Amino acid sequence: MEIFTKRLLMREYTAGDLDAVHAFSADPRVCVFVEWGPNTPEDSAAFLRSCLAEQHTEPRSVTTLAITVDGAVIGSIALMPADSSLTPENTREDGWAELGYVLAAEAWGKGYATEAAVAMLEFAGNSLGFRRVVATCRPENTGSIHVLEKAGLRRAALLPGHKVIDGQARDSLLFTIDL
Ligand SMILES: CC(C)(COP(=O)(O)OP(=O)(O)OC[C@H]1O[C@@H](n2cnc3c(N)ncnc32)[C@H](O)[C@@H]1OP(=O)(O)O)[C@@H](O)C(=O)NCCC(=O)NCCS
Repeated sequence: MEIFTKRLLMREYTAGDLDAVHAFSADPRVCVFVEWGPNTPEDSAAFLRSCLAEQHTEPRSVTTLAITVDGAVIGSIALMPADSSLTPENTREDGWAELGYVLAAEAWGKGYATEAAVAMLEFAGNSLGFRRVVATCRPENTGSIHVLEKAGLRRAALLPGHKVIDGQARDSLLFTIDL
């Protein structure tokens, strides 16, 4: 699976991507608003193993792609079955997917996340046949809110105590788009 945009190639992960994955996943700046990390080397290896394993599942329920610029991995973007708290019937057949993404801090502020999200949404609708994409983010995550809104998602709800982060139940904003 490969998605080309003006500046990015989003492609399947390979075993050789471990160092690049660990570089951004172990960075505390990157993990402030997410429920994982900062990764240990073992966490990053397990993440990459799961990305490689999902490539061989049929039907494929999770699509995680490396975001690359000029051959370098700068982040990750994924479509996965929607969190069960967002849709009661979180199966692919229902045509719902959840979008997630993360970029290395060095790559922030250049429009890459928006470019990747727009391309992934187009791929989700046109190639994977999804009908609705949802995404959540912390209300404090201004950058991610901007990315979702620029990619055309609309704010649908506040989900109180939606995710446990650092042992605390944190609110999320829910965003949706019909494809
Ligand atoms: C959130 C994240 C993906 C944004 O990536 P990015 O490539 O910097 O985003 P973009 O450059 O496409 O920015 C889109 C818009 O948001 C704005 N923006 C980005 N980061 C911002 C921030 N921290 N504060 C305010 N605005 C921000 C940009 O200025 C841009 O708006 P503009 O085009 O009107 O100038 C990135 O910061 C990241 O990976 N963070 C850590 C992981 C994470 O939080 N993932 C999302 C979990 S929900």
